[in-house]
This record gives sequence, structure tokens and C-alpha cells, in this order.
Amino acid sequence: MIKVAKNNFPKTNFYVQDMSKLKLDRKFDLILCPFDSLNYLKNIKRVQQTFKKVGNHLNPDGIFIFDFNTPHLYITKHKGTYDREVSDVKFKHICIYDKGKRIAKTIFDFGKKGREIHTQQAYTKLEIILALRKEDFEILDIYDSFELDKPNKNSNRLFFVVRIKK
Ligand SMILES: C[S@@+](CC[C@H](N)C(=O)[O-])C[C@H]1O[C@@H](n2cnc3c(N)ncnc32)[C@H](O)[C@@H]1O
Repeated sequence: MIKVAKNNFPKTNFYVQDMSKLKLDRKFDLILCPFDSLNYLKNIKRVQQTFKKVGNHLNPDGIFIFDFNTPHLYITKHKGTYDREVSDVKFKHICIYDKGKRIAKTIFDFGKKGREIHTQQAYTKLEIILALRKEDFEILDIYDSFELDKPNKNSNRLFFVVRIKK
């Protein structure tokens, strides 16, 4: 993916790092972490560590925008097996959710070509808010995706806009 990205944006620097150990010699006005990337972190401690590292890389007034999938999404939508085809590649898309452990598995089964397994952890809005507070972030807004609506109990994905408290 990095090869493809470099090809598309030759003037951009790309780094491959674990976000919970993020270390770059720069600070930024804006940091984005979209498309349920935080759900790939196995526990809230690692999410909090990521918030700390992001905080270390923000300029004063710098903004951090991220999203995460809610337990509601996994409970209501993350189930079943689907036959899919993308760019002429056929595969099975299998969704499994363990409600007790709040762990979601997504399996992309390419038959003889192998399979890809994604493991995600569901976090509640409250868990995320507490982890942000512990790292001195203030929450500027929270949105229900993909609108500017407020979160509600049926929100599947929440977007947070935060910055370090002054
Ligand atoms: C659903 S993809 C989203 C990719 C991209 N942000 C986008 O919006 O299209 C989740 C991404 O999180 C990355 N990821 C998972 N765990 C990570 C970690 N500990 N540190 C950095 N990236 C991680 C995966 O490699 C994957 O690229």
C-alpha cells in the first residue's frame, strides 16, 4: 500500500509505525486517524497511549480528528457471510462479533489465494472520552457519521474533533 501511495504522491513522506508508539521529529496543526483505525488497537490502554503520542505531535491549537466504530455497529451489522467481487477479484467476506469480549473479526477469504483476517475491538463513547481526558485533550465536538448530527444510541461510527487543553 505504501508503494502505491508513494507512486500516487511522490512528494509526500510516508512512515510505517505503530501509532501507539508514534515518533516523528515534527509537530502538526492537524492529525487525522480515519476509518476505524483505532478499533485495530487491542485495548483501551493502547488507545490512550496513541492519544498521548498524538498529543506530543500537535502544535498548540493543533487539531486531532479521528473516528471509531461503536459497539452498536458491530452488534447490528457485523454478521453474516457475503460473496463479493471487487476489481474482478472474487472473495468471501465473513463478519463475526463476540459481544461479550467486544471483538470483531472480518475475514476476507480469497480461496486458494489465502485469507486476510482483521481483528477489531469495539470501544464505547465513554471509554474514548475518558481516555482523551486522561491525556489532557478537550473535546471540541463529536459527530455521528457521516453527517454533522450529534451522536445517538444508534450511531455506528463517531467522529471526534479534539485538541490539547490550554
Ligand atoms: C480500515 S484501515 C483505514 C486506512 C486509512 N486510514 C483510510 O482511511 O483509508 C485501518 C488502518 O489502520 C492501520 N493500523 C492498524 N493498527 C495500527 C497500528 N497499531 N498503528 C498504525 N496503524 C495501524 C492498518 O494498517 C490499516 O491501514
